[in-house]
Amino acid sequence: MKTPRRLIETAVAAQKMAYCPYSRYPVGAAVLTESGRIFAGCNVENASYGLSMCAERSAIFSAATRGQRGILAIAVVANKSKPCGACRQVMFEFSTKETELYLVDRNPTTGKQHVTKTTVYKQLPGAFDPLEAGLLPANPSNLLRRKR
Ligand code: THU
Repeated sequence: MKTPRRLIETAVAAQKMAYCPYSRYPVGAAVLTESGRIFAGCNVENASYGLSMCAERSAIFSAATRGQRGILAIAVVANKSKPCGACRQVMFEFSTKETELYLVDRNPTTGKQHVTKTTVYKQLPGAFDPLEAGLLPANPSNLLRRKR
């Protein structure tokens, strides 16, 4: 798909909601699901640092909470947008080989942004695949209408 402006704008808006007083590193994410809906997330930190949650997982869990398990595209906005390993694995769970990942490096002062288009699969070679591991049947009904 061509650069999804609304998806990226939603991730930028979510980044502004980040609660990150410890790292001062705001991240925003937005997920486009098969139904055409968009779900947003931001990082939410905690004084007990290990309890902090990343923007990407927040957005994906929000979609899953609405029964939206098939992801067409994800946008991640940060000063330097690089999803952590944990988030890559969580994105993988609901992605296909085609799921697009837009990494948006955004300068917080100027608002200038640089978008890199890639895919979730490319960003996690050797992912732990529940189908390969035999943890899900070949056509998992719990992934609803999704195909791999
Ligand atoms: N962070 C994210 O939200 N997503 C990532 O993929 C990388 C890291 C957050 C976690 C923490 O609140 C802050 O960025 C600095 O690590």
